[in-house]
Amino acid sequence: MALVDAVIEVLRPPWHGLTIPDSWELSAAGVFEVKPGKEGEGDKLDSVCGVLYVTGLTTAPAGDWGRMLAFQDHDGHTKPLAIPAARLHEDPAILARELANAGLRIIPGKERRLVAYLASFTPTNRFQSAPRLGWMERTDGGLAFIFPDRVLSAAGNEAVVYQPERYSPTIGTVHASGTLESWQENIGRAIADSDVLLFVACVGLSSPCLKLADSDSFIVHLWGTTSRGKTTLAQVGASIWGCAVDPAESPSLSFIRRWNATANGIEGLAEAHSDLPLCLDELGAGNHKDISPLVYQLAGGQGKTAMNASRELKAPRAWRTVAISTGEMSMESKLAEGGKPPKDGTLHRALDVEVQDIAGHLPESERAGYVQGIKRACATHYGTAGVAMLEALMREYPTAPDARRAAVAGIDAAVSKLQQPHHAPEQVRALRRFALIAWAGVFAARHGVLPVTAARVWEAVQAIANRWGSASTGTDSDRITEAVRAFILKHGARFQTNNDSQDVPNRAGFVDVTAGRWMFTKEALQEAAPGHDVVTIARAIQAAGYLFTNTEKLTAVMQTPLGRGRWYTVKDSILSDDEAGQPSKTGVHGVQGVQPAPEIGLQAVHPSAFGGVQGVQQAQNTQTAYTAYTQEKAGCTAEEPHSSGLCTPVHPVHHENGVSQANEETGEPFQ
Ligand SMILES: Nc1ncnc2c1ncn2[C@@H]1O[C@H](COP(=O)(O)OP(=O)(O)OP(=O)(O)O)[C@@H](O)[C@H]1O
Ligand SMILES: [Mg+2]
Repeated sequence: MALVDAVIEVLRPPWHGLTIPDSWELSAAGVFEVKPGKEGEGDKLDSVCGVLYVTGLTTAPAGDWGRMLAFQDHDGHTKPLAIPAARLHEDPAILARELANAGLRIIPGKERRLVAYLASFTPTNRFQSAPRLGWMERTDGGLAFIFPDRVLSAAGNEAVVYQPERYSPTIGTVHASGTLESWQENIGRAIADSDVLLFVACVGLSSPCLKLADSDSFIVHLWGTTSRGKTTLAQVGASIWGCAVDPAESPSLSFIRRWNATANGIEGLAEAHSDLPLCLDELGAGNHKDISPLVYQLAGGQGKTAMNASRELKAPRAWRTVAISTGEMSMESKLAEGGKPPKDGTLHRALDVEVQDIAGHLPESERAGYVQGIKRACATHYGTAGVAMLEALMREYPTAPDARRAAVAGIDAAVSKLQQPHHAPEQVRALRRFALIAWAGVFAARHGVLPVTAARVWEAVQAIANRWGSASTGTDSDRITEAVRAFILKHGARFQTNNDSQDVPNRAGFVDVTAGRWMFTKEALQEAAPGHDVVTIARAIQAAGYLFTNTEKLTAVMQTPLGRGRWYTVKDSILSDDEAGQPSKTGVHGVQGVQPAPEIGLQAVHPSAFGGVQGVQQAQNTQTAYTAYTQEKAGCTAEEPHSSGLCTPVHPVHHENGVSQANEETGEPFQ
């Protein structure tokens, strides 16, 4: 370019060549409405806002039209923004507020004129728009990924713009700061020796792999005590894609959001983070009366069908995301706050991972400084690893089906390594999610995105999957059996014996002390495991081997002081026996789903239910048996604390020069 041309280029305003509508004037000072002056006076210029103009029309394959805007913020930076045309016909204050938040100067009271100005453009440029971030289907089968400000595509530049239906926080939070090398130096290497920090980086990388693996959305919930690094975990996961500053410091700049939004707000956030992770901090802050439908919905990938302001049915929002959630309580406990025990479906979509100390691999004196260093780095070096990951995926797999084949094969291989014979099908489904995380992390390590070995990634993910597995409360049946066991221990006094001369208050049923049979009324059985149908409860107890029947039905015909009748009858062995079925692993590490401790139950049990001195002896035996039971479930005995695979640290690992390497037979399973 000749020097003169270059000078002219600099002097030209960015809206050079666009036709500014009649009655409006646009200059470096902003937008003015031209109003005819009184006779003999010139036109009046009425200031509306800073620099703002329309560069083109947008269209989507579904036919949704929109407008491509550009505006200058207070720093003089020009920013693009695509909006659906419908937004010009809603309350003008809403759009004005969003533009003002994004840095456009707007004269208060001129919101309506601002929208009238935008509507009066008749641009000729056309852009293709997409309503969601993330993967875009190209007609040639190639991979392309939409970011707020560009499209990443193996085929070069795609003329597609991100046009969310409403305000999307990701427009401001998904961008890069620093370089991939600076992210690796300050974050990637710093997290290499912490299983959970490395794991959460892999979770952050895994979100775009959901589509490749044809998987549903899910939630990884990291929970633990105050100030042990929960928000830092969310920051590391967020640093893969965008501004990972602590949301307590800069809520509007941070990629991390908080659980304290409305259900509708969280749906909007999920949509805005499609194919990216959705980081939600502080589960406890969420004031959701019943969080369970929201968790189900988040994982289901689709919002509720909603009405718009004019009561027309709107298409429900849709998304695909791996949510990284943090909190001081487990998701299981939060879900149970509503009074109903969580269902399997929910708990295997929301994986509870307890975090005791993200810096536990370091001496106590170094931990705080280490965590503070990572927090600081997350506010400065971010948004580069995700792009590098996508570029590597596009280089490696020319088409979506190629990527899909590789992802599915890798995940299958990982699941077969993570799975153990006692795992129920729903637990295997949950393990698939860990396998997806492992696949993403190993891919990133092999392609130079994560500065650790693939074996180290596999080791970290496997350690966290094992931690989840050993604390997982198993299946619905397990939980029901646990609940009935806990009910008997707590409410033993509400079961009447043949020796009782008076009716016990609030009777739950009868107990035959000699035969060891607990006879439940239907109501009491339902009370024992609320939220489940009485038949489901009886079947679960039957499957675990604790239901006594002497007929074809789930009830048994029993003799009580009321005469012969049908009762849901539970065998005494439910309190002590570990052999009858495969009871749950509930409360294994005293972490989540802890059922009432046996000693609490023993105090509450009706003494006569066990019959005097013999009863006390029996009660003590029950306690011993229960203790042995929980120990065995934990795979830990007093003599041999880590005897089972569940407690054993994954595999022997050699640490050399601070980088961990798995030995040959324990290497990651991916080809
Ligand atoms: N594992 C740790 N060991 C020592 N100090 C830590 C640890 N984790 C966090 N901290 C300290 O706590 C500060 C806050 O960390 P972070 O925000 O991640 O904690 P948090 O668990 O989210 O806390 P809160 O419960 O207050 O939200 C850190 O800057 C650091 O000083
Ligand atoms: Mg926090």
